[in-house]
Amino acid sequence: MQFRNVLAVAALAGSTLAANTSNNSTLTTATPAVTKACSFSDFTATASDEVAQVAACATAVGDITIYGPAFGNVELTGVEQIYGSLDIINATQAVVLNAPTLQLVSGTLNLDGNTILATLNLAQLTTVGTLVLNALPALEKTGLTAGITSAENITVSDTALISLEGINVYELAIFNVNNNKDIETIDSGLQSVTNLISISYNAEKVDVSLDKLTTANQVYFQSINSLSAANLTSVNDSLTLTSNSIDKIEFKKLTSIGKSLTINKNDNLEELDFPALTKLGGALVISDNSQLSNFDGFPNLTTIAGTVTLDGKFNNGTFDSLNRVSGGFNLTSTGELSCSAFDKANKFTVEGNELCSGAKDSTSSSGTKIASDSSSETGSSSSSSATSTHTSSSKKNDGSSNAASRLTALIASFMAVGVAFY
Ligand SMILES: *[C@@H]1O[C@H](CO)[C@@H](O)[C@H](O)[C@H]1NC(C)=O
Ligand SMILES: *[C@@H]1O[C@H](CO)[C@@H](O)[C@H](O)[C@H]1NC(C)=O
Ligand SMILES: *[C@@H]1O[C@H](CO)[C@@H](O)[C@H](O)[C@H]1NC(C)=O
Ligand SMILES: *[C@@H]1O[C@H](CO)[C@@H](O)[C@H](O)[C@H]1NC(C)=O
Ligand SMILES: *[C@@H]1O[C@H](CO)[C@@H](O)[C@H](O)[C@H]1NC(C)=O
Ligand SMILES: *[C@@H]1O[C@H](CO)[C@@H](O)[C@H](O)[C@H]1NC(C)=O
Ligand SMILES: *[C@@H]1O[C@H](CO)[C@@H](O)[C@H](O)[C@H]1NC(C)=O
Ligand SMILES: *[C@@H]1O[C@H](CO)[C@@H](O)[C@H](O)[C@H]1NC(C)=O
Ligand SMILES: *[C@@H]1O[C@H](CO)[C@@H](O)[C@H](O)[C@H]1NC(C)=O
Ligand SMILES: *[C@@H]1O[C@H](CO)[C@@H](O)[C@H](O)[C@H]1NC(C)=O
Repeated sequence: MQFRNVLAVAALAGSTLAANTSNNSTLTTATPAVTKACSFSDFTATASDEVAQVAACATAVGDITIYGPAFGNVELTGVEQIYGSLDIINATQAVVLNAPTLQLVSGTLNLDGNTILATLNLAQLTTVGTLVLNALPALEKTGLTAGITSAENITVSDTALISLEGINVYELAIFNVNNNKDIETIDSGLQSVTNLISISYNAEKVDVSLDKLTTANQVYFQSINSLSAANLTSVNDSLTLTSNSIDKIEFKKLTSIGKSLTINKNDNLEELDFPALTKLGGALVISDNSQLSNFDGFPNLTTIAGTVTLDGKFNNGTFDSLNRVSGGFNLTSTGELSCSAFDKANKFTVEGNELCSGAKDSTSSSGTKIASDSSSETGSSSSSSATSTHTSSSKKNDGSSNAASRLTALIASFMAVGVAFY
């Protein structure tokens, strides 16, 4: 397909053009001294002669806003560095933004609400603090010829972009790409994202590839078609995949998630694969994935420090290595999986309340669904269940059940609720 060729070229161009071999941002360098005419203080240009005042400065210091419908194309040729922010907002008559010499914006470069902007020339831009491209419905190309190699935050939303060509950064705090209906592929070389990765509502079939990513903090995917994150080893905060058309969720190297893991409303999802995950620091939620019939994808998971909610048409499900759930446990199985079968196959301690509703044990027919076969099977469980309440049955109790562990459980479930994202 033509589109893919464009991307392949872009990827090549990106790697050869990421010219500055130093990865360090220049953002911390001291603000240079400039003439009074190029020292701006909350300056807003609303007419073309005011835009020209900015364009006259190779180096400008201060926060600059270019705003409104009173001028046409925005011409900033000559400007090389802005120590401050550049906002170009609601320039509704501008078809072209020309800043071919601009290399650096130390604060935020924000293009917002420029409704007919179709050509962006940022040919030499390599360094920004924050890049925001928002509400640019006519913009199909980033115009980042050299490519951005240093930035702290990047947000791209509500644009007509077909790719993220020219965004060649290795590390970010925030990477947020949403509501770009023509972005079908996100293939990023990012290695680390320290605050948030959020990808949502782009092209319906957006394929996301983050194979260089090794560590991230909050991670959120919505409305994506496929995901590859082969090198991701740690997610320090939460990982959420909701309302995607993805059929397989696979994180081959992911060993730990600091807070919760939420997988819900993925209607095509058939398989989970988290072979290396050993520790979940918050809640586990797997719910409303209509094609998912088991939750067997966690063979190495030993501890869950929050609550567990499993709700779906499950036929089978085991956590082969799980020892302990510090919060409550709530299984709702509308498939063939019965509570007693689950009990038999799983041997772990639940410190909070345990609820189960599943197929009747007496029959294995798939038609059997009952509203509340509240888990009371104790057949496979050992005796004491001090942490349980009347609705729960504590399996394979290890004797640690006491007020302290109950308090731990309470705190853990509290934390699990606290980390809910969005
Ligand atoms: C820049 O960072 C990338 C990714 O961390 C690394 O592969 C590359 O060697 C770095 N280049 C330099 C000059 O440090
Ligand atoms: C880049 O940053 C690293 C870590 O802060 C530092 O050790 C290194 O000297 C820096 N390199 C340059 C070229 O500034
Ligand atoms: C590359 O970036 C470093 C600091 O990040 C800067 O000192 C140097 O001038 C840049 N080199 C080029 C060729 O732009
Ligand atoms: C830009 O225009 C939009 C839509 O008309 C409006 O909602 C927004 O407030 C404007 N922004 C500013 C900074 O005036
Ligand atoms: C990046 O975003 C964070 C969180 O919103 C913010 O605190 C930080 O100042 C931003 N960095 C820059 C360089 O704008
Ligand atoms: C996640 O935590 C580890 C260990 O504390 C740390 O080395 C890593 O940099 C963190 N990653 C992010 C993206 O914050
Ligand atoms: C994982 O990262 C390493 C080092 O950056 C890289 O060589 C390898 O290709 C990555 N794996 C994938 C599947 O991209
Ligand atoms: C499972 O966990 C063990 C112990 O932490 C580790 O040695 C092993 O490599 C893990 N398995 C996978 C597939 O990562
Ligand atoms: C459920 O899965 C376990 C482990 O994979 C397997 O041993 C067992 O036979 C399965 N049970 C059914 C009814 O498929
Ligand atoms: C258990 O899960 C079911 C289905 O998701 C839900 O309706 C119910 O409210 C949950 N119970 C508790 C106590 O959280």
